[in-house]
Amino acid sequence: MTAGRFPTTRMRRNRHDAWTRRLVAEHRLSVDDLIWPVFVIDGTDTVTEVASMPGVYRVTLDRLAAHVSPVAALGVPALALFPATPTDLKDAEGTESGNPENLICRAARLLKREFPQMGLVGDVALDPYTDHGHDGVIRHDYVANDETLAVLTRQAVNQAEAGIDVIAPSDMMDGRVAAIRGALDAAGHIHVRIMSYAAKYASAFYGPFREAVGSGSALRGDKKTYQMDPANTDEALREVALDLAEGADMVMVKPGMPYLDIIRRVHERFGVPTFAYQVSGEYAMIMAAARNGWIDQDRAMLESLLAFKRAGASGVLTYFAPAAARLLRAT
Ligand code: PBG
Repeated sequence: MTAGRFPTTRMRRNRHDAWTRRLVAEHRLSVDDLIWPVFVIDGTDTVTEVASMPGVYRVTLDRLAAHVSPVAALGVPALALFPATPTDLKDAEGTESGNPENLICRAARLLKREFPQMGLVGDVALDPYTDHGHDGVIRHDYVANDETLAVLTRQAVNQAEAGIDVIAPSDMMDGRVAAIRGALDAAGHIHVRIMSYAAKYASAFYGPFREAVGSGSALRGDKKTYQMDPANTDEALREVALDLAEGADMVMVKPGMPYLDIIRRVHERFGVPTFAYQVSGEYAMIMAAARNGWIDQDRAMLESLLAFKRAGASGVLTYFAPAAARLLRAT
């Protein structure tokens, strides 16, 4: 080979034109990959923006159909419901989570009626319902595992009865998937799926979410006795293995972008539907930088979502779902 002919292989050839770039693209983000987290709030005729999450709203039930309708029309497959429970309905045991008339159940019934083609994901954990902000009940200054399971199973069946299609336990108690599967089956909900927050880390990136559901200001201490240590990887694989053995249909890794390595390993090891949760703090960071003119919002959004696909995720829970779906439909 003569020096003049070098380099023979030019990686840039396939990048030369938009049409080749399209042909050789290895991963693609589609509307089918998106799950949209939605916050519901008590009251009437109110849509309030979450201060730390521009473009994310807390809506009352009478405004919910209008809020969801354009996103349903874009074909987003599913949404995940989160309640901002009124403070006077919170207690130490998270009793309101088992109330068939709670915000989530009323929202689920309404959405199933209005948008029967959409999947509904229901977060199962007690933090939106407890006055101490923890995901479980407290005994002797400790979030008690087995006592919490009894409340979680009641919460899960309550949501399933209201029409929730996918129970998503986010509490990180041991044994919750088996307990919830057993309770769902016993109540006849054999088709209700479980998407477990299998590897959920004790993360600093949940701050804006806790503002949105009002579970942050009252939170005593942290969640390190049940959520995972960000230092650990192998432990995440054990968590996933257990949840699958207990009957999880899909697993989730949370947060998203700081934990792409976990998504990759879970996907490679287990080959099961693996979801990423691009959490509130990730959304807030991108939005804050974009609002300052420091990054391009649309491009940063799509790039961050594509990263999950590259890591092996089947889909992403993301507050960007409406904006991303709009862009993906337009191109
Ligand atoms: C509740 C729950 C949390 C999130 C989802 N479900 C908060 C927490 O564990 O404190 C966070 C979602 C987000 O930050 O977007 N267990």
